Amino acid sequence: MQRWKNACCASLLLLAACSESGPGTADGAAAPVHPGKATYERFCFSCHAAGIAGAPKTGDADAWAPRLARGMDQMLQSTVDGMPPGMPARGLCFDCSDEQLTDAIDYMLVQNR
Ligand code: HEC
Repeated sequence: MQRWKNACCASLLLLAACSESGPGTADGAAAPVHPGKATYERFCFSCHAAGIAGAPKTGDADAWAPRLARGMDQMLQSTVDGMPPGMPARGLCFDCSDEQLTDAIDYMLVQNR
């Protein structure tokens, strides 16, 4: 009986270890991953990491301050609509929900230190 229990636990641990390191585990089982990280890295990163075309750079608090001052609602609105010519509508993530976009914006903002 005892033996069976150990084998069972070991396989559970293995399973947990696999899912933790596997791609696309947004459930944040052990180490919580920011919900906007995946969206950011797929869509927003290309412009916002380097500040392409005048995009406010991720982590550059000064660049974000005046936008942040207008409020999160406004930032979401301009993300959804786009800001011609530089910022494409929905940051090119046409499948993203407003909530996913909000998370991606938040992900950029939490890098501001
Ligand atoms: C093709 C390049 C590009 C991509 C991709 C992109 N952005 Fe931008 N983004 C810009 C540029 C350029 C600006 C500055 C626009 C301006 O001020 O006229 C901007 C501005 C913004 C702003 C500030 C809006 C405001 O109200 O001032 C937010 C928020 C933002 N982007 C979010 C995102 C998110 C979220 C994604 C990914 C889903 C994304 N962007 C993808 C280029 C991009």
